[in-house]
Amino acid sequence: MDAPRKLYVKSFGCQMNVYDSHRMADMLAREGYVETAEPAEADLVILNTCHIREKAAEKVYSELGRLRKSQEETGHSTLVAVAGCVAQAEGAEIIKRAPVVDLVVGPQSYHRLPELLAKARAGEPAVDTDFPVEDKFDHLPAPSAAATRKRGPAAFLTVQEGCDKFCTFCVVPYTRGAEVSRPVAKILAEAERLAEQGVRELTLIGQNVNAFHGTGADGRTWSLADLLYRLAEIPGIGRLRYTTSHPRDMGEDLIAAHRDLPALMPYLHLPVQSGSDRVLKAMNRKHGRELFFDIVARMRAVRPDMALSSDFIVGFPGETDAEFEDTMDLIRRVGFAGAFSFKYSPRPGTPASDLGAQVPEAVKTERLHRLQAALEASKRAFDLSCVGRTFEVLFEKPGRQPGQLIGRSPYLQSVVVNTPPAGIGEFLTVTITEAGPNSLAGTPLSHTPLSHVTARARPLAALEA
Ligand code: SAH
Ligand code: SF4
Ligand code: F3S
Repeated sequence: MDAPRKLYVKSFGCQMNVYDSHRMADMLAREGYVETAEPAEADLVILNTCHIREKAAEKVYSELGRLRKSQEETGHSTLVAVAGCVAQAEGAEIIKRAPVVDLVVGPQSYHRLPELLAKARAGEPAVDTDFPVEDKFDHLPAPSAAATRKRGPAAFLTVQEGCDKFCTFCVVPYTRGAEVSRPVAKILAEAERLAEQGVRELTLIGQNVNAFHGTGADGRTWSLADLLYRLAEIPGIGRLRYTTSHPRDMGEDLIAAHRDLPALMPYLHLPVQSGSDRVLKAMNRKHGRELFFDIVARMRAVRPDMALSSDFIVGFPGETDAEFEDTMDLIRRVGFAGAFSFKYSPRPGTPASDLGAQVPEAVKTERLHRLQAALEASKRAFDLSCVGRTFEVLFEKPGRQPGQLIGRSPYLQSVVVNTPPAGIGEFLTVTITEAGPNSLAGTPLSHTPLSHVTARARPLAALEA
């Protein structure tokens, strides 16, 4: 028998890419590829790329340079594919700039990879950046039980793709295309299968996940809230999350779902970008700061233990010192438990990149430092406030010391527990004893299986058989 062909996949950017990378690996498994963690020994390398900021896009070219060098040194010939948002944005230009690349495939065309690979092997041009009418997910096979187990008990599930919001700084509407929701039946089938395979936590993902409006088998249009209520009924699914949301689409029914569903985690990632009304308007975010405060208040009214994280951009064109102070003020008022923050990066083809009054780099750097110091302090305060609290922890992987396991709190914090009376893929009630810079430590309170999870789920041990 031939030795299996080896595949190395590297994901950059957001969770959508992580999910897509898994689905590409699942499809290529059928073509005889097994995954390797070593690019130098791979027969096929896929870089699943991100175009969101200049730095993210440039990373791809440094990675391609390394690949070319290693191919020259070892003489091992590897097919190189560029997938994802840089592939969509730059297409055939990528091969011109980096001839080591054999194949370019945009995010909506992954199901065509086998044909593209055949072309690339025959030395023909292999570039596909279409937005095809067919749904790629209909043609991408589901993961095997072994692949799901390897990826762990917390899984992503894409429910929506693309974006129609056109924030003036953002490339996503161009790289991912128009907003499309997957049909409800397909999502439910995938969730049920994952749960059967041992998944206990599902994060529904989409560029604008709370704009989800999928067609149900009943012909009705389901909202994200409708979907969450239904998913919470699946035996084995103990936790639900969703990301990334837009403030404009935080419907009343979604807030009610947080009140009603114990499985829906009290942690919301809600990007706000700026605390200044003028900047928000120039960004075309379609809401002001008051809407954000209002959502936070309504969320906390239904779930007093609700914590928030967000995304911020500093140095959007024309941002004044006073406008930046509005962002600092918003941070103080909300008290975020986590955040991502970035310097504005002008992106080709986006309206904001053409605006005058670009903020000087030094000013952006100074603002980012101040913002990040404030966000870090806010996160630290939240972590410290968790000491003494009791959380359900879902164990995901072994820790560094023998017997140790690492799990996640409802707030996505890593929790390290010594010799817990539970295994990977199981929940345990843990009292938090310490908050370190990167993780919490805790001791098990008792082995209390969650009635809404374990009662109806087959134990993981049964799945190993
Ligand atoms: N759909 C999500 C986020 C998509 S991109 C939303 O609507 O918020 C993830 C984050 O990258 C954004 O929230 C934003 O903070 C940041 N980002 C996007 N474009 C950027 C740019 N041109 N420069 C700097 N940061 C950017
Ligand atoms: Fe980009 Fe705005 Fe769409 Fe988010 S909502 S993906 S930031 S255009
Ligand atoms: Fe990046 Fe594309 Fe995601 S640009 S953030 S990989 S949607």
